[in-house]
Amino acid sequence: MFAARLLLSCLLFKEVHALSGYFWHITDLHWDPTYKLTDAPELVCASSGKRPAAKAGKFGDYACDSPLHLINSSVHAMKDILSDPDFIVWTGDDTPHIPNESLTEDEVLHIISNLTQIIKQVFPKTKVYSALGNHDYHPKSQFPAGPNHIYNKTAEMWRDWLDPESQATFKNGGYYTEKLLSRTGFRMLVLNTNLYYDQNKLTQGMDDPAGQFSWADHVLTEAANNKERVYIIGHVPPGFFEKKRRKPWFTPKFNQRYLDLIQKHHSVILGQFFGHHHTDSFRMFYKSQDSPISTMFLSPGVSPWKTTLPGVVNGANNPGIRIFEYDTQTLLVKDVVTYYLNLTYANAAHARWEKEYRLTESFRVPDASPASMHQILERIANNHCHLQKYYEFNSVSYDLTECNSDCRVDHVCAAREVDFHRYERCLEKEEAAAICAGFLPVLSVALSLVLSSR
Ligand SMILES: *[C@@H]1O[C@H](CO)[C@@H](O)[C@H](O)[C@H]1NC(C)=O
Ligand SMILES: *[C@@H]1O[C@H](CO)[C@@H](O)[C@H](O)[C@H]1NC(C)=O
Ligand SMILES: *[C@@H]1O[C@H](CO)[C@@H](O)[C@H](O)[C@H]1NC(C)=O
Ligand SMILES: *[C@@H]1O[C@H](CO)[C@@H](O)[C@H](O)[C@H]1NC(C)=O
Ligand SMILES: *[C@@H]1O[C@H](CO)[C@@H](O)[C@H](O)[C@H]1NC(C)=O
Ligand SMILES: [Zn+2]
Ligand SMILES: [Zn+2]
Repeated sequence: MFAARLLLSCLLFKEVHALSGYFWHITDLHWDPTYKLTDAPELVCASSGKRPAAKAGKFGDYACDSPLHLINSSVHAMKDILSDPDFIVWTGDDTPHIPNESLTEDEVLHIISNLTQIIKQVFPKTKVYSALGNHDYHPKSQFPAGPNHIYNKTAEMWRDWLDPESQATFKNGGYYTEKLLSRTGFRMLVLNTNLYYDQNKLTQGMDDPAGQFSWADHVLTEAANNKERVYIIGHVPPGFFEKKRRKPWFTPKFNQRYLDLIQKHHSVILGQFFGHHHTDSFRMFYKSQDSPISTMFLSPGVSPWKTTLPGVVNGANNPGIRIFEYDTQTLLVKDVVTYYLNLTYANAAHARWEKEYRLTESFRVPDASPASMHQILERIANNHCHLQKYYEFNSVSYDLTECNSDCRVDHVCAAREVDFHRYERCLEKEEAAAICAGFLPVLSVALSLVLSSR
């Protein structure tokens, strides 16, 4: 009897694990080929833009984009930690943060090619789903809404990862879709959201650059007809940057169209995976007030580069890479495990990629479903311990300072509202809540004084 039960529980355990699949997500590698160790801190790397790279070491500096050594280390760390993922999601930004004039189209293509080769060498048999980042074009962010040399060249570099049909749509607009791992019932949608970036002068005023929205609408409609489940990946996300109040990336119109697309097709979309922020965050999509329908996971970057965006203080990060655990039958995201390199430690000693946190453990949720992510967000919004934990993970354990009430509002509203108007309303509401919370103790003391004096 006991033996039978033991056998049964072993079988069940195996069953549970048989349903789990794993994939890597890496993003924002930003290789800076000029990185070198010299005695002049301003001259360590072009991407510091003359900011001193005071603690430069073999693995990089917080003022700089990645030296090749860091990139190599991150890809080998993936191999060491989980050598046989089902697939890899790579969401772009390969070149350094330097002015257009300091780069050429050939150099941009060379960098994309080099990083592609490194990933291929380390993971020769693994399917990679690869999206273009705004830095994977020359001049940066100026993605055309039609065929061009860079789409062509990139499609060739990624030939082994792309089906013939993907090649065609990629050459036309930098996007593609395929059955996920060629399995019936599962689909990957790779978007070129650089077309929606407000920095892109070539697509301003267009309704549907490269026909990507109507194409995606068609793909998702077909997916529903064919009972498929879909993951969406891309680089530039909709919504707001959580480290700078009122800083969106998309134009208002494109932001709305993206939201409409998710609202319409959420029932087949099981996850969205984006980069660009270099931080660790997420975005919720709701049907009505409290009904979460989708989550966009924003994965941290490999480059530790401290952003020069005005208004962001000390916006660097430790290099991060992450594994998503998912249900292979439903594509439900079950867990997220983030690994990181403490850059200071690595430079002083050796590369030690450690587990930073496991989502379900750190936030005590059963999985990473939209309902669970909504629960996490509400805990972050209402409990300082959770907020602080989230905040430290946000910079991949680089910035360990206190997340104050302004910081809370910025992070909570960015995660909660992708819609521009609703984001504004969230700011108002949460600011008022913060003021009330601040006044409450004062108010109760005053009240008790009044009462006791009577
Ligand atoms: C890349 O990293 C691996 C693992 O740390 C190491 O064995 C290899 O020598 C590195 N290659 C280069 C070119 O740095
Ligand atoms: C690069 O060129 C584009 C198009 O001319 C321009 O919008 C953008 O600001 C430039 N960026 C940099 C960093 O030089
Ligand atoms: C990438 O570029 C570096 C530096 O130019 C070179 O040493 C290395 O061999 C290249 N790697 C690949 C895989 O092309
Ligand atoms: C891109 O490649 C196609 C063939 O795949 C070719 O017909 C076209 O002329 C190329 N376009 C550019 C701009 O290089
Ligand atoms: C990173 O390493 C440095 C140097 O060893 C250490 O002082 C710091 O506390 C570490 N940071 C974290 C988050 O562990
Ligand atoms: Zn980036
Ligand atoms: Zn970017």
